[in-house]
Amino acid sequence: MRIIIEQNPEAASIRAAGWISQLIRKKPKCVLGLATGSTPLAVYGELIRQHREEDLDWSQVTSFNLDEYVGLPPTHPQSYRYFMDENLFRHINIPTQNVNVPDGRALDFERYCRTYEKLIQQAGGIDLQLLGIGADGHIAFNEPGSSLGSRTRIKTLTRKTIEDNARFFESPSEVPRMAITMGVGTILDSRQCLLLATGGHKAEAVAKTVEGPVTSQITASALQLHRDVVVVLDESAAALLQRVDYYREVEQVQREIESAFVSEPSGG
Ligand code: F6R
Repeated sequence: MRIIIEQNPEAASIRAAGWISQLIRKKPKCVLGLATGSTPLAVYGELIRQHREEDLDWSQVTSFNLDEYVGLPPTHPQSYRYFMDENLFRHINIPTQNVNVPDGRALDFERYCRTYEKLIQQAGGIDLQLLGIGADGHIAFNEPGSSLGSRTRIKTLTRKTIEDNARFFESPSEVPRMAITMGVGTILDSRQCLLLATGGHKAEAVAKTVEGPVTSQITASALQLHRDVVVVLDESAAALLQRVDYYREVEQVQREIESAFVSEPSGG
C-alpha cells in the first residue's frame, strides 16, 4: 500500500482527483469505479474544475459505481444515481450510455447483479476504483462479516451505517435497509484502488485497514491483498497509524523518483 498523508481534507481531495485526472489523460478510454458519500464530493468538485478549466475530457471514459440503495428510483434525491448526476455527471462530458450505477429497482436482483459483473468485464475491467471507507471499516456496502471473495449482490446495512447515512434523510427510518453493492472480490479485481479518508472519525477504521490483520470484520483490510493500492489521508484520518514517519519517508522517496523519471504513479 502506498500511504499518502496530506495536511487537510482539501489537499487530500485534490491529490486524489489528480490521480484520477492523470489516468484519464493517459488513458482516455479508461474505466473508472466511482463512490458516493461525503468523502469524494471535493474530489468530484476538483474534477469538474479540471474539465471546465483544463480540458479534462470524459468523452471516452466509462464508469461503474460501487453501490445503490435498494428501492430508490434514480430520480430520488437520496439515490446514489441522483447523487452522481448532481455532483459529477451533469457537469462533465461523460456520455450517459457510459455511466453505470447499480439499479436499486431491478426486478430480479440475482440476475441483475450477475449482469453488472458481466458489464464490468465487457468494459475491460476497472482501471481505477475510488473508495471511501465507513467508520466500521466497510468499503462499498460490504459490511463487517462480508466474504472477502464476495461479488456484486444485495447486502443488509448495519445499524451503524444506517445511522451514519441518516444525515442525508429526514430520519433514520427512511434510510433503506438494503443496498446492491459490488463485492470485496469485485473491488479487488480492479487494476488499482484509491482509498480516500478524511476526518478523525475515520482514524480507527483507517488504522485497522492499513495496520491491522486482514479480516472480514474490517472489509477494507482486504485491500492489503491487492497489489496496487493508494491510500490518501488527511492528518486527522492518519492520526492512529503507528508508522506515520515511515510512510512519510517512503512518500518523499517516491516523489523524488517520480520527479526524476516522470514515471507513472504506482502503489506498493
Ligand atoms: C459509497 C460507499 C461507502 C462510502 C462510505 C463512507 O458509494 O461505497 O462505502 O464510501 O460509507 O461514506 P462517507 O464518505 O459519506 O463517509
